[in-house]
Amino acid sequence: MSDARAIGVFDSGVGGLTVLRALRQAMPFERFVYLGDTARLPYGAKSADTVSRYALQCAVNLRRYDVKSLVIACNTASAVALPALREALGGMPVIGVLEPGAQAAAATSATGKIAVLATEGTVRGGAYERAIKTFNSHAQVLSLACPLLVALAEEGLVSGPIVELVARRYLAPIAVTPVDTVVLGCTHFPVFLPVLQSLLTPEHRWVDSAATTALAVRATLASLRLLAQEGLADPRAVRFLATDGAERFARVGSLFYGEAIPESAVEVVDLA
Ligand code: DGL
Repeated sequence: MSDARAIGVFDSGVGGLTVLRALRQAMPFERFVYLGDTARLPYGAKSADTVSRYALQCAVNLRRYDVKSLVIACNTASAVALPALREALGGMPVIGVLEPGAQAAAATSATGKIAVLATEGTVRGGAYERAIKTFNSHAQVLSLACPLLVALAEEGLVSGPIVELVARRYLAPIAVTPVDTVVLGCTHFPVFLPVLQSLLTPEHRWVDSAATTALAVRATLASLRLLAQEGLADPRAVRFLATDGAERFARVGSLFYGEAIPESAVEVVDLA
């Protein structure tokens, strides 16, 4: 059995395109509808209630595109809204990035000492710490909020002295509380990996939840017999939706997606 319907993916903006890229690599025969809530980014600085409300609106909107499952590409929304979205969407499989990232971190760390770089909202709720501890109850998790990195990535500023200065400051607690593994617990942070790596040692291990999430989505859909039939690659395989700014979505999004997104491919939608 196979299911040709698209997979819905949403994020607060363009950062989740790193997750979409990994999903496409893991499942080249699937169709996707990606929604970036660019009008309301950042989610990371907002309260859990507000993020849950926004996430619910994104999910309900994507359901109108007849999607067969939902991927929450946003760490902040995964941290605060996953149970609410599962309940709201009834039987539809809903997968967030947080649990696969936590599992990968627990599996990667030899010492159980793990740092999580994330938004304020993700850090505040302690969701990564809880999730990592379900895979390794002895883990010691150092959660570090790095909000300025989101703003820098949104400006397309991913290297150079300003980024180094900001990243150095955010990583400083690791000198006091050593870890062997660092989780990029925010959609925007994979683009900073070269700079972040240069500021720690070559022995530090890095976890990007995008690839592990893609594998978790594939496994879930396979177990439910919801994967599309192989070989039926669709030229309209990805549909891009944004709540504001098609030109900005295309320009900044290309950086995260790893390939050019034409502005004409981005539809602006109203979630109300
Ligand atoms: N998508 C958010 C996350 O992964 C980062 C950007 C934001 O704060 O909205 O947590």
